[in-house]
Amino acid sequence: MGQKFYLETFGCQMNVVDSEQIAALLADLGFCAASSAEEADLIILNTCSIREKAERKVVGHLWRFKPLKEANPELVIAVGGCVAQQEGERLLQRLPHVDLVFGTHNIHRLPELLRRVRRQRERIAEVAFLDRETRLALFPERRSTGEVVRYVTVMQGCDNFCTYCVVPHVRGREISRPSGAVLAEVGRLVGSGVREVTLIGQNVNSYGGNTPGELSFAELLAAVHDIPALERVRFVTSHPKDISQRLIDCYATLPRLCRHIHLPLQSGSDRVLREMRRGYTAADYLDKVARLRSACPEIRFTSDIIVGFPGETEADFLDTLAVVQEVGYADIYTFLYSPRPGTQAPLRSDGLSPEVQQERFDRLLELQERIGPAIWRQDVGRTLPLLVEGESRQGGGQLFGRTTWGRIVNFAGGRELIGQVIPVTITASYRNSQLGEYWESNASVRCYGQG
Ligand code: SAH
Ligand code: SF4
Ligand code: F3S
Repeated sequence: MGQKFYLETFGCQMNVVDSEQIAALLADLGFCAASSAEEADLIILNTCSIREKAERKVVGHLWRFKPLKEANPELVIAVGGCVAQQEGERLLQRLPHVDLVFGTHNIHRLPELLRRVRRQRERIAEVAFLDRETRLALFPERRSTGEVVRYVTVMQGCDNFCTYCVVPHVRGREISRPSGAVLAEVGRLVGSGVREVTLIGQNVNSYGGNTPGELSFAELLAAVHDIPALERVRFVTSHPKDISQRLIDCYATLPRLCRHIHLPLQSGSDRVLREMRRGYTAADYLDKVARLRSACPEIRFTSDIIVGFPGETEADFLDTLAVVQEVGYADIYTFLYSPRPGTQAPLRSDGLSPEVQQERFDRLLELQERIGPAIWRQDVGRTLPLLVEGESRQGGGQLFGRTTWGRIVNFAGGRELIGQVIPVTITASYRNSQLGEYWESNASVRCYGQG
């Protein structure tokens, strides 16, 4: 019988894509996927260290696998991703049942590293960063998975060094993938049935910045958009400082670009933004929001906000609330500031008490509760184009798809609709999803927005 692997993924889109690469490498070695850790010969956690809580969760998880290793000494336990990169050898010291730690630049070496672990019973931590040329040459080709929507990596790493953020330390310097390779990959994916791609990178709109002669992000987006048979394109995550007028214009000129932008604000206070080294002021940010709205009145915004950055005063926090109120986000992801190793911010001694942080966090959520759900409720009664992605997690023969704004809509329909853009009438709006109805006769109804 073939060997089985159990792979669990934490963190952001970068890790989702890396996990696809890990799964593909393991498939080449003859592994197939196990449905639980208990039945696996190889357990891999692909980890995230963006906040301390995320890191603790990984370590807690790893301890839970210890009895499995005791029962089956042949079991191999491996840790990849950002905690692996950050901790390296220390993970082997802390967790005696872990066999292999491989960093974010060493995924391609997994087959060789696993062989050494198994044949030579070595315990290995491999977390060296690669140089730019090697990384570019090793950029993994995506394989078809039969899915309708896929991520496509256009850049890796980050050079921004926001003072709170671990990403540049665990992912390395920013590199842009050659636009020719991006376009070829999207073309191939579309040929295998993909209808929507999300261009991903930690700082996607700085694409091409440090590569002379390369397309700008707006040009790349337009080129991807024009690939025939691609129904929709999205991108994430963009940095407010790198939103160019050309990118804003894309929302007016590219009909298949989804009407949503995730634009992390982090703070509405200019003083805090400066200390975070974000490179924009609240006024700059609001100006870009206004220009995006004028290019595309139906655009919806989502954002990330950090509460309780060291030294954040009540006045700073009120500035954040004011921007949240003014933009009117459809959704926000709020995080309590978490000091990360190697970053600059935690060196400061004016950290806030957990009580103050929590109280501000709750107030921010309360404000957003009054804004976001009302935006999503506007959709009820409208007939919207939905790209049908697959069977709904809700079960009961339901399907799910997304509107241009990215919200999941569950509805009853036949599997033959998967991969199609169909008009669905929204009948209810919940916290994280909506409910819709589809009738064949809907097909003649003129949809609001784009496909
Ligand atoms: N590249 C993206 C963010 C990636 S990390 C950007 O520049 O916006 C995702 C989010 O995690 C960030 O937007 C930030 O809000 C949050 N985050 C990152 N580091 C954090 C920290 N130390 N404490 C709390 N939240 C953090
Ligand atoms: Fe982190 Fe800032 Fe880079 Fe985003 S832009 S990944 S927050 S350092
Ligand atoms: Fe987490 Fe690493 Fe992504 S720290 S957010 S998985 S780049």
